[in-house]
Amino acid sequence: MRNDVHHCGTDGAGAADAAESAWTPLRLRDVTLPNRVWLSPMCQYSAEGDGTPTDWHLAHYGARAAGGLGMVTVECTAVAPGMRTTARDLGLWNEQQIAGHRRLAEVIATVGSVPAVQLGVAGRKSSHGVPWDNAGTRSAVPPDEGGWQPLAPSPVPFAGLAVPAEMSPADGTRLLEDLERAARAAHRAGYRLLELHGANGYLFHEFLSPLANHRADEWGGDLRARMSFPLEMVRALRAGWPEDKPLAVRIPAEDLLDGGLTVEDMTVVAAGLAACGVDLVDLSSGALVPEARRLSEPLHNARYGPLFRDAGAAVAASGAISEAAHLDEAVPELVDAVFVGRALLRDPYWALRAKGSAPAESWPRQYLRAF
Ligand SMILES: Cc1cc2nc3c(=O)[nH]c(=O)nc-3n(C[C@H](O)[C@H](O)[C@H](O)COP(=O)(O)O)c2cc1C
Repeated sequence: MRNDVHHCGTDGAGAADAAESAWTPLRLRDVTLPNRVWLSPMCQYSAEGDGTPTDWHLAHYGARAAGGLGMVTVECTAVAPGMRTTARDLGLWNEQQIAGHRRLAEVIATVGSVPAVQLGVAGRKSSHGVPWDNAGTRSAVPPDEGGWQPLAPSPVPFAGLAVPAEMSPADGTRLLEDLERAARAAHRAGYRLLELHGANGYLFHEFLSPLANHRADEWGGDLRARMSFPLEMVRALRAGWPEDKPLAVRIPAEDLLDGGLTVEDMTVVAAGLAACGVDLVDLSSGALVPEARRLSEPLHNARYGPLFRDAGAAVAASGAISEAAHLDEAVPELVDAVFVGRALLRDPYWALRAKGSAPAESWPRQYLRAF
């Protein structure tokens, strides 16, 4: 099955190999990831001004880049001010932000990992509070308190957040321009892999799902119609992102609620993404609506991996990967690579410990006297 992975005119991820494991390299286009254990994008809600990285980001990503990961993915970074989830999100629409991201990409690469960034378009999940404020992520921040009007496929709110305005064709055109510009900005900042956040109820996911897209125009209706704007989003990113660099999209494997996207729907979407130049699909299910089932068992998204193998892109997943044995179980049988989230918030050296090799083989030499 793995030999079938199509990488859009590149050498691909490599043939099936008995020695393949989480610790072997993965090639996507002209980028070789030294291993398949990657930092999952995780918002730090710590940007300054209108979305510029701070010293917190430098310390946070630098520590994890020193932790033996094949890739460090910088958190969801908005392509325009109105597309942020909170006023403390990172952005990539001006020169000051690009300069800040360049520092992050440089420190990640210098310390030993491949720098990647996730671009985000929050849709109806836009303009809420940060997790540690009273308002929290389930309460809208209105325009007169520093928030803004969210845009979405349909004027249907998420839980306690604001009723979004329905996206007009002109809004769509502007967003596609913002995506292309942000992809160019990410390249200039030095990132080597670009991921679009198309899961967890953000705009891309909202367009796909019949639970959030009630449009009567050409962007709504059956799955093909609901996919049309998301695929435009990917084409816009590809137009701004160099041919030799890989593009990923984080997608749900399903909506986990009756009437929502099914796994069958999502394999069709994944094939459509691959045909548009997407090299990697990254599975992260649920969170479109508060009623969606929540998965918590180990490797929950990775277990969908084999169903996506024929889509034509490499497959990765995040979700409750917290023990070394989970890595052995996941790669290569379930997925080509894993994104690890909370375990790496608790311990930036989690991957080095999970690998379990002799310290001299994998830990930074500056730390060898610790053993
Ligand atoms: C603090 C925090 C922030 C997160 N921010 C993002 C984000 O920016 N983009 C995203 O796609 N997922 C985000 N997630 C989800 C994680 O990337 C990951 O998919 C999820 O936590 C499941 O993986 P885990 O069980 O290894 O933590 C976030 C999760 C946490 C805990």
